Formats: sequence, structure tokens, C-alpha cells
Amino acid sequence: MFTQRPHQILRPQEPVAVADAFFEKMNARRSVRQFSDEPVPEALIRSLIATAGTAPSGANKQPWRFAAVQDPALKSEIRCAAEAEEQAFYSGRASEDWLRDLAPIGTNDQKPFLEEAPWLIVVLKRMRDDRDERLSDKVYYVNESVGIATGLLLAAAQHAGLATLTHTPSPMGFLANCLGASEHERPFVLIPIGWPHPNAMVPDQERKPLDDILTIH
Ligand SMILES: Cc1cc2nc3c(=O)[nH]c(=O)nc-3n(C[C@H](O)[C@H](O)[C@H](O)COP(=O)(O)O)c2cc1C
Repeated sequence: MFTQRPHQILRPQEPVAVADAFFEKMNARRSVRQFSDEPVPEALIRSLIATAGTAPSGANKQPWRFAAVQDPALKSEIRCAAEAEEQAFYSGRASEDWLRDLAPIGTNDQKPFLEEAPWLIVVLKRMRDDRDERLSDKVYYVNESVGIATGLLLAAAQHAGLATLTHTPSPMGFLANCLGASEHERPFVLIPIGWPHPNAMVPDQERKPLDDILTIH
């Protein structure tokens, strides 16, 4: 009833050079908060989401949905609702420590990029899977699975020269309402995507060196 098939092996001639080149590309990724108004074709968005959908997932439940929003009215609605949550966050809900840690990034309760970016991708977790009647409708390791899929989406966007922001206006329940999500879906993250604004600025911050994040045993 359940079968196996041969694995398709893709092994480059120079794996270290290939890996180093990928690192260089990914090391240039930054969270961008200023976007150009130049359109991004839907075909490009579809390709990024297809890559995200290649992620591994607990028991292969693929517990994700990617809602790609380009409609200006819907983007405005999302901005308005996100800014309402962010105002409550910056003016009381956030702890002192959290605000102190956000200071170097320079963010505030204004989110113009939610209208300026040509696309907003809302990543949703699906808490039920009823595709296959031979299997249960349960899902497993949903945060891990959807987090990996989101990482692949960000990597695919970077590979295509697009800028992204990982945005988490908290709480994100309003996104479920804006998108008419089902009762089994929960917003996970909101990703504005577009070409970076030519004058985009990013916080002057460093990544941890490899020796601080790697231990070899
Ligand atoms: C889970 C998560 C949530 C984040 N939420 C926000 C957010 O709500 N607003 C924002 O401006 N940046 C947000 N960020 C972006 C971080 O500030 C950013 O990744 C970090 O400062 C490192 O910068 P870099 O992405 O340019 O390397 C978030 C990032 C992650 C991974």
C-alpha cells in the first residue's frame, strides 16, 4: 500500500566552492523595511512558494499555507490592523528589556512597508491534515516544519535578488480574519517581499562569527 522509489542524487563537482558561493549570497541577506514600488511578477512569487513547499515536515504533513497578497485594499487593511497591534506593543505590551533590545534595529509602530511592498506573504500553520484517509488528520512539529519552510522561502527570495522582511506583528490573529483563514489555520509570520528600495538602509549590525556558533565534536 505504501511504496518506495529511488532517490534522485544531485552532487556537484566542487561542493565546497558551491557551498561557499551560496554562503556569500545568503550572507548578503538583510531584513529590509524599505521597498521599491517596482512590480514583482506573480510567476516569481509562485516559484518562491514552490521552493518553500519543498521543506521537510513532521510525518510529511506539510502543515503550511502561503497566502500571497498583492491587492492594495487588502494590504491597507493589513497595515491598519498591524499598526494597531504594534501601537499597543510599543506603548505598553512590550517589556522594557524587549524595547531595549529593539532599539538598535530602530523599529517603531509605523509599518509603511506593508503597503509599499508589492507582495505580502502570510505564512499560515495548518493544525489539521485530512488529505489522506489512510492516515490520521494530526500534524506534528508544526512550528519546526513551518519555520524551515519559511527559511527556504527567504533563501529563494534572496537567490532571486528580492528583499524580504520577517515580520511578526503580535498577536497576529487579525491576519486570520483579513484572509478568511479556516479554524484550523494560524498565522505564523508575515513576509513583505519586493525589490529593495534603491536608498534602503539597514541596521549596522554584525553576525556572530562561525567559531561562536559552531562546535565540532
Ligand atoms: C521570528 C522573527 C520575527 C521578527 N519580527 C520582526 C518584526 O516584527 N519587525 C521587524 O522589523 N523585524 C522583525 N524581525 C527581523 C529581525 O529584526 C532581524 O532578522 C534581525 O535584526 C537580524 O537582521 P537581519 O535579518 O538583517 O540579518 C524578525 C525576525 C525573526 C526571525
